Amino acid sequence: MIVYENVTKRYGDVTVVDNLDLTIEEGEFVVFIGPSGCGKTTSLKMINRLIEMNEGSIYIEGNNVKDVDAVELRRKIGYVIQQIGLFPNMTIEENISIVPKLRKWSQEKCTKRVKELLEMVGMPYEENAKKYPNELSGGQQQRVGVLRALAAEPPIILMDEPFGALDPVTRDNLQDELKSLQKKLKKTIVFVTHDMDEAVKMADKIVFMYNGKVLQIASPEEMLRNPADSVIENFLGRLSYSFSGEDLTCQDVMRTKVLKVPETKKTLESLTLMKNRQLNSVVVIDENDKFKGIVGIKKIREEGYAGQEIGSIADETVPTVSINTSAKESFDLLTEHNRDFIVVLNRNKTVAGIVTESSIANALASVYWGEAK
Ligand SMILES: Nc1ncnc2c1ncn2[C@@H]1O[C@H](COP(=O)(O)OP(=O)(O)O)[C@@H](O)[C@H]1O
Ligand SMILES: [Mg+2]
Repeated sequence: MIVYENVTKRYGDVTVVDNLDLTIEEGEFVVFIGPSGCGKTTSLKMINRLIEMNEGSIYIEGNNVKDVDAVELRRKIGYVIQQIGLFPNMTIEENISIVPKLRKWSQEKCTKRVKELLEMVGMPYEENAKKYPNELSGGQQQRVGVLRALAAEPPIILMDEPFGALDPVTRDNLQDELKSLQKKLKKTIVFVTHDMDEAVKMADKIVFMYNGKVLQIASPEEMLRNPADSVIENFLGRLSYSFSGEDLTCQDVMRTKVLKVPETKKTLESLTLMKNRQLNSVVVIDENDKFKGIVGIKKIREEGYAGQEIGSIADETVPTVSINTSAKESFDLLTEHNRDFIVVLNRNKTVAGIVTESSIANALASVYWGEAK
């Protein structure tokens, strides 16, 4: 857990971070956002003491960062910036191993870790480890930058506009990768951006800053629905917007990549599929591809047995919506039934997709700001 307590930073008599209070939970993905110069980078760098605050305190796991040796502190906190910062005369392997080496890991352990990390982002060790940074694409270099920050397994990673210099497609891919890595590794990530699409996509919690002050701290969904200040509304590229939903249907806001398994598939096999994709539940379909029900990991744990067909434990009573249902209605269903997702059906009852809070938020983001940029 990271706690900012009344943190203030001044340059001369200009206050650039003004009395910041914020708690970042373990494993949380927190995004600082706001217009250029609002104090995002300064707030981030005070965590690893690249910038020292004038007043207030920051605690990491209850320890005041002022009481920890700054160099030691930085080795324990991953740090990724836009300008990549890979060392050009070191190989990819050497770049990733910098902090592990400083921490006196054995050569064997370092190599193992580098292999594991490169594997995680689909860059096989044999092909990439001995290359130099200039032999990689921009996207690959930035990937290595992220891996380097992860290398010594720090519980906290700070990222300052890490994908800002990348083309949109590469950025999108790296965002997906980072998000899934974070889910898997349960790291606490503090991430700076001035791009609202990015914030909505990545954040558990968004901290909106303006002139050194926090205007709002909220989940992406909450900030989209209820921006706390006209500055935020303007930043979102609109003057007033209420979640009408009349203009958006489930088809607009659903995610179409869904793990569907036939009802005859064995429970054990389905479980493996779920594990590989890090999903808590699957959508079960019948022989005509029509929706049958959903099965969660919990149910499998409670009722599953060897040789069983997954269809036999599918919950067929879950709420579903059609592609023409309004987005608002699906959002209300999510909240009302306290579900992670709602299944969207085509007219012939085949599965069109699922809606989740974040799929709705993402769709809203592109509808409302997509063209503004
Ligand atoms: N070393 C410095 N001396 C004086 N002013 C600075 C210094 N570093 C940053 N600032 C000012 O502090 C404010 C916040 O900067 P920063 O945290 O980098 O903003 P952001 O990352 O949100 O764009 C800006 O107005 C910037 O000009
Ligand atoms: Mg900055």
